Amino acid sequence: MDYSRYKKMDISQVGMGCYALSGAYGGTDISTYKKVLLHARKHGVNYFDTAPAYGPKAERILGKIIKPDREEMYVSTKVGMKNEIEPILSYEHVISSCENSLRELDTDYIDFYFVHYADINTPIEETLNALQDLQSDGKIVHYGISHLSQENASSYFKKGNIGAVMMELSPVARSALDTLLPICRDEGIAGIAFSVTGRGVLTGRYNRNSSFQDIDIRNIDPLFKYTRSESALRIVDELKELGKKYDKTPVQIAIRWVLSQPGIVCALTGPSKKEHLEENIGGSGWEIYHEDMDHIDDVLKREDDFLDREEPRLIKSILSNPLPNDSSEAISQLVYVLEVAAQRNMAKESQILPIFQKLWSLKKEGADDTESFESIKGSINNILNLHL
Ligand SMILES: NC(=O)c1ccc[n+]([C@@H]2O[C@H](COP(=O)([O-])OP(=O)(O)OC[C@H]3O[C@@H](n4cnc5c(N)ncnc54)[C@H](OP(=O)(O)O)[C@@H]3O)[C@@H](O)[C@H]2O)c1
Repeated sequence: MDYSRYKKMDISQVGMGCYALSGAYGGTDISTYKKVLLHARKHGVNYFDTAPAYGPKAERILGKIIKPDREEMYVSTKVGMKNEIEPILSYEHVISSCENSLRELDTDYIDFYFVHYADINTPIEETLNALQDLQSDGKIVHYGISHLSQENASSYFKKGNIGAVMMELSPVARSALDTLLPICRDEGIAGIAFSVTGRGVLTGRYNRNSSFQDIDIRNIDPLFKYTRSESALRIVDELKELGKKYDKTPVQIAIRWVLSQPGIVCALTGPSKKEHLEENIGGSGWEIYHEDMDHIDDVLKREDDFLDREEPRLIKSILSNPLPNDSSEAISQLVYVLEVAAQRNMAKESQILPIFQKLWSLKKEGADDTESFESIKGSINNILNLHL
């Protein structure tokens, strides 16, 4: 494992995240997960990420893992979500949420404290005041942003002293390459990549017929649907082929590709199996030759062209046809449209977020009436009309 230098910190290039504890990737056995976290430490991982939103015990579990060598570990956690889907970044909430995270993690300081989601009802200045007060008090070392639109992120860059950006980045999720990453490079901000295995798709162990447990988020994840899944599977085939030359698996090539992007300090993965973790750690400690990086870039450029052509077409088709009667399929289609539209800046975050929250509430309630989903589709049509 190699380490990246960032402001006197030597951070393991592969870091470990605890999102799986939320059940996002199906049921996770807590004691097994603790063992994987310990295994990560044993294999040189010194950067661990968690969040209150990852479940009631997520921070406490990580706190116990890092406690024995706290000073040699780097930990990040986040703020911004109440009751699972309610965004909140008021001054009081940021302060009290941080105090709570410190207690749960059983530590005096947090190395990286991230704004997890946007709260369109709180001025950014108010959130920044709280983050700066926490920093002055030594409770957080750096603060950063994560999961925000380009528009919202730009305001944070302008008004705050951002120390890190947590962004989705992998060969199957590339939008940060032209948006957040250049800013990190220019401003000397740490880029922390997440979902670097493409939530497993880059391992080559999933195909069109793979199925997941009911609670698994990948049932509605656009990466596992329609155009994106088609494109991802083609990319995996290319990485597999290239892997033969280096004696590496496709996911190791994918992680090495992420780490080769200037500005990236750490690639976060979140496996629940030791062998998967070891495989992913093998994404660091070696190099991809220039000519092979160029080849990957050509492949990805072709896939960008494919998605640029096909995604607006698919969105238009979904929005102009009746939704499927099956509610999970209807939700999948609507999530796909909202996420792709957000990523392609087809509407403002302030327009997309409330619709997304409404859809999420319907999903949680187990709604299965077509009218509710058709009404969501109508709202999306209203905000995207001009672009189609
Ligand atoms: N800031 C944010 O908004 C945000 C969003 C997402 C994630 N994150 C952070 O980033 C961390 C990493 O993201 P992630 O959890 O999505 O990472 P990930 O490693 O891309 O995805 C984890 C999933 O991929 C599977 N997987 C990983 N490596 C594998 C391998 N070698 N072989 C087979 N399957 C493999 C895991 O399966 P198994 O469980 O079977 O091993 C698990 O289902 C998170 O845990 C979280 O801390 C942050």
